[in-house]
Amino acid sequence: MIDQKVPLCAPSLLSADFTDVASAVRLVEHSGCPWLHLDIMDGHFVPNLTFGPKMIRDIKKITGLFLDAHLMISNPESSLDSYIDAGSDAVTIHYESLIHVHRILSRIKERGVYAGISFVPSTPVETLHEILPLVDLVLVMSVNPGFGGQVFIPGSLEKIRYLADYRREQKLSYRISVDGGVHRGNAADLLRAGVDILVAGSAFFNAPNPAEEVPYLLAEKII
Ligand code: DX5
Ligand code: ZN
Repeated sequence: MIDQKVPLCAPSLLSADFTDVASAVRLVEHSGCPWLHLDIMDGHFVPNLTFGPKMIRDIKKITGLFLDAHLMISNPESSLDSYIDAGSDAVTIHYESLIHVHRILSRIKERGVYAGISFVPSTPVETLHEILPLVDLVLVMSVNPGFGGQVFIPGSLEKIRYLADYRREQKLSYRISVDGGVHRGNAADLLRAGVDILVAGSAFFNAPNPAEEVPYLLAEKII
């Protein structure tokens, strides 16, 4: 089980300036957010490319932030270990990216990091029933994965409610994370629905003062 205090905000590096990653990491530390969300895209599972394990390894050297790796890659089994070896604290794979989801989640857990499952907007949440008892984190994709700055898909809210109810009914302990189109205007609804972790790319990095945006994203301050 993830023992960090929740709810929390996890800024996504995707919206930062890739020519100055160290400054982006300092910005997240300064904001008080304990997690850094790292989007790994392979140009195959999603139509965009970002970075691989070396970036995670280099970031690990300069920060104590919890590194939340979101693998948007085909065939994650073949490179899974490299992302864990690089220093990821949580590894989230996509339900749609492989057949033997159960096996890879067990492997992630065996390696001693948090195991996460994500699913794209067109995948029904009920599909996850069999694996929910296995996971530490469920990452609800509230946009089609691949790019930052997209508009939140409203049906995602219902998926979050469903996951929160199911967790309570089944006495499970996974954390619910939401990724895509999160901003100060929908954060309160997401938290009410049961979200524990708000991933925010553009809402954080494009804010005039990212640290000042965080209380709005956590609905501690209202617009
Ligand atoms: C999209 C990524 C997100 C992205 C979110 O595929 O998984 O983590 O950074 O960006 P925003 O918050 O701008 O929608
Ligand atoms: Zn992501």
